[in-house]
Amino acid sequence: MTAPLLFTPLTLCGVELPNRIVVSPMCQYSAIDGMANDWHLVHLGKFAQGGAGTVFVEATAVRADGRITHGDLGLWSDEQIIPLRRIADFLVGQGSIPAIQLGHAGRKASTQRPWYGNGPLGPEDMARGDNSWAVVAPSPMPTDSGWLMPTELTVADLDGLCDAWKSATLRALEAGFQVIEIHAAHGYLLHEFLSPLSNFRTDAYGGEIEGRMRFPLEVVEAVRCVLPKDLPLFVRISAIDGVDGGWSLDDSGVFARALKVRGVDVVDCSSGGVGGPVTAARIPRGPGFQVPFAASVRKAADVRTMAVGLILDGQQAEDALQSEQADLIAIGREVLFNPNWPVQARAALGIEGSENWTNWPAQYGWWLERRERILRRS
Ligand SMILES: Cc1cc2nc3c(=O)[nH]c(=O)nc-3n(C[C@H](O)[C@H](O)[C@H](O)COP(=O)(O)O)c2cc1C
Repeated sequence: MTAPLLFTPLTLCGVELPNRIVVSPMCQYSAIDGMANDWHLVHLGKFAQGGAGTVFVEATAVRADGRITHGDLGLWSDEQIIPLRRIADFLVGQGSIPAIQLGHAGRKASTQRPWYGNGPLGPEDMARGDNSWAVVAPSPMPTDSGWLMPTELTVADLDGLCDAWKSATLRALEAGFQVIEIHAAHGYLLHEFLSPLSNFRTDAYGGEIEGRMRFPLEVVEAVRCVLPKDLPLFVRISAIDGVDGGWSLDDSGVFARALKVRGVDVVDCSSGGVGGPVTAARIPRGPGFQVPFAASVRKAADVRTMAVGLILDGQQAEDALQSEQADLIAIGREVLFNPNWPVQARAALGIEGSENWTNWPAQYGWWLERRERILRRS
């Protein structure tokens, strides 16, 4: 039997990821003024304790107006660095690589936390103190009826946004993150530029795919230029809009080739989100439903990809790697359900050391091994 790829380290630039399991960025909507707190530390820390090789901090806004909700994390100011550094340090202490996703929500900013409705802020939210703010987008078209009308970004605004992305990257580096991901998926700002369903510009930033890719690629260049060569850059895309006339898998191949040329190391292949909240899926979902997108982009652009979406067990993850559909496996809700998913997948794939619990943190493994011995005897 070949050694499971899922637990084979992968070196990207100068960073060795200890295994191929990546905790997907997952907004907690639990920050105040963009600042991380103990919730984020415990939430992310337990995935490192559970053996994930790389742990992503959720979509972190590069500017205050780029938050999806009032509870989003941010890196638009220096004071936001310190609590994130505490998290990055903890992840490193557990043997994981600290990673962070940087984003701007565009016209999908200024919305309710999911559990309050996942739509535009209304009177009940405002009574709670969650007032809405003005949103921006490539074109003055709202996400859906009843959503905020965005202001069209000027070319000067775009330069300012590139600077915001750069500054946020520098702050992320100061906090100790070793992997940066640019969020260009799920109907947020960069995806809004890419998709013909949300970009109606007639200047150099709209029109054919080259024009629509221009601003996202400028952001990539801005980030890559301040990111040391030995640190990897990921970009998350929505590989397809899943809506007639929208962004297609072929478009993703074209975009991924352009990303690779600009020094992007991994294309993280998600999908959907261009209209309405990201949870309002228009793409049929089932186990591993986005893995074929990662496979297609990998082939079209000869670039490393990360697969995500209902990857539920170690064997399923291993199969996607062995069949060369993806190079990394991102896990989202499954680690919310079971933060020890990685160490358990290790045992399920029969990796040496799993049988005597030495792959677990010593604080747990020592006890679990004895517990198992007792159970076996009884
Ligand atoms: C609570 C929650 C928050 C999420 N926040 C983000 C986010 O910040 N950025 C992002 O790109 N995707 C986000 N997603 C999508 C996940 O990263 C992942 O792509 C999706 O959940 C599918 O993977 P899964 O089936 O393993 O959960 C979020 C998903 C969940 C469940």
